[in-house]
Amino acid sequence: LKTYMATNEPVLDYAPGSGERMALEDALRSYEGKMTEVPVIVGDDQHFTDEFRYQLCPADHQRQVAKYHFATKELIQKAIDISQKVRPAWEKKPLEERAEIFLKTADLMSTKYRADMNATSMIGQGKTIIQAEIDSACELIDFLRFNVQFAMDMAKYQPVCTPTDTNYLSFRGCEGFWAAITPFNFTAIGGHLPSAPAFMGNTVLWKPAGTAVLSNYTFYKILREAGLPPGVINFLPSSGPVFGETITSSPHLAGINFTGSVETYQRVTAMVTKNLHLYRTFPRLIGECGGKNFHLVHPSADITQVVYHTIRAAFEYSGQKCSACSRLYVPHSLWLQIKDMFVEEYKKIKLGSPLEFDSFLSAVIDKASFQNIKSYLDYAKENPNLNIVVGGVCDDSKGWFVEPTIIETSDPKDKLMQEEIFGPVLTVYVYPDKKWEETLHLVDTTSPFALTGAIFAQDQSVIEGAQWALRQASGNFYVNVKCTGSVVGQQPFGGARLSGTNDKAGGPQYLARFCSPQAVKVST
Ligand code: ALA
Repeated sequence: LKTYMATNEPVLDYAPGSGERMALEDALRSYEGKMTEVPVIVGDDQHFTDEFRYQLCPADHQRQVAKYHFATKELIQKAIDISQKVRPAWEKKPLEERAEIFLKTADLMSTKYRADMNATSMIGQGKTIIQAEIDSACELIDFLRFNVQFAMDMAKYQPVCTPTDTNYLSFRGCEGFWAAITPFNFTAIGGHLPSAPAFMGNTVLWKPAGTAVLSNYTFYKILREAGLPPGVINFLPSSGPVFGETITSSPHLAGINFTGSVETYQRVTAMVTKNLHLYRTFPRLIGECGGKNFHLVHPSADITQVVYHTIRAAFEYSGQKCSACSRLYVPHSLWLQIKDMFVEEYKKIKLGSPLEFDSFLSAVIDKASFQNIKSYLDYAKENPNLNIVVGGVCDDSKGWFVEPTIIETSDPKDKLMQEEIFGPVLTVYVYPDKKWEETLHLVDTTSPFALTGAIFAQDQSVIEGAQWALRQASGNFYVNVKCTGSVVGQQPFGGARLSGTNDKAGGPQYLARFCSPQAVKVST
């Protein structure tokens, strides 16, 4: 086996007049006044079915960026049949040959299609340029390249042989098909969830989120241009219930790679459990389901650091990262200073269209999300335990804009401290300095999630104590730095409790979920 060493894709800065900025502006212009028609793709065939939806630009909801067709039950079934037909030839391809396709995809994304990937995420998902760049370009490229390194490293492990026996492990794919159900908030997750099982020799049915369909389709076309054979990944925008029922009632279901809400993951899991008697194997379930992530500030913290990182973790991409910080614990002795600094920092943040390059954040993804976040803000306005420090205004006249909002609560168990809002809303609980141990307990027990969290402290023994006390409270733990922005190969990502199965995307163990190794003993 060859060796491949991945490195992280550099994040470009898009300074005015730079080559990448001009290419991006050209790409954005090419989408002006244009609505892309997105088909269902099964095997090598495109289908423009009678049932369709529109993807709207979040910052300008009169703008239709894509018209996408829904896969019918019959087409999803056809994709299952085709995926079974093409699987043996795909699985038989040597790992290096499969790797070449995904490495070529990464190279095409890094060069020829970088602007297109970013432009489609900006207009379709409301990403500002920097948020598009770290996601739709860098993180997705990194997933593809690091997976090649991880798979080659994994395949190098071979069991012990004896003078009489040769033993080896064959890293087979899983028998059956994988389904990937992907979210809107990271184009990188959209692309990664079907790519990882496919790379390991499986065939996949991919249901992208309707609110991310344009960038996801752009990625799918790059995969095919790079040489991915038809039918290895089938592109199936569809209704959630129709897709879920069709895949979970097939005897060939090998696994589901899911990122989305807790409720949907619970529904999917229940459907699999109900149908266990149907399957030829036990389907593997991978779920990443969100968080209620914390920044915990100790009295020894550097408050400049706290303010800088918290604003970014809470408000970048309008708090729609599963890793976003949404609860902040501050000691009484630091709160007034931190509050003043928040108010100052807040003035520098621009809420606007992602097409204005100086916007810090933009509109939230869609009407349902806008209404949900607004209902939390209305609740905050009416509740005497809650005080809105900054923000709180919602305006959906042009796009689904929600001001970044900081709310102070006197109740550490308020629902704003417990529930995932998935918007630019940060709730702060000010704790008495002497109650550090009690506060650690609150951080650990207040929410049902355990995805990311950060501690800000200068005292080393405090950091170590908190790390131990909070060891189950997050899958990704940060010290003196924000709880968002994990980098593939550097901070493998995932959480436990209701945040998911913690399979650590972007780490070496992840790919093992997509193989079903066969151990072979040959007597000599
Ligand atoms: N990589 C993303 C983050 O950590 C999920 O914000």
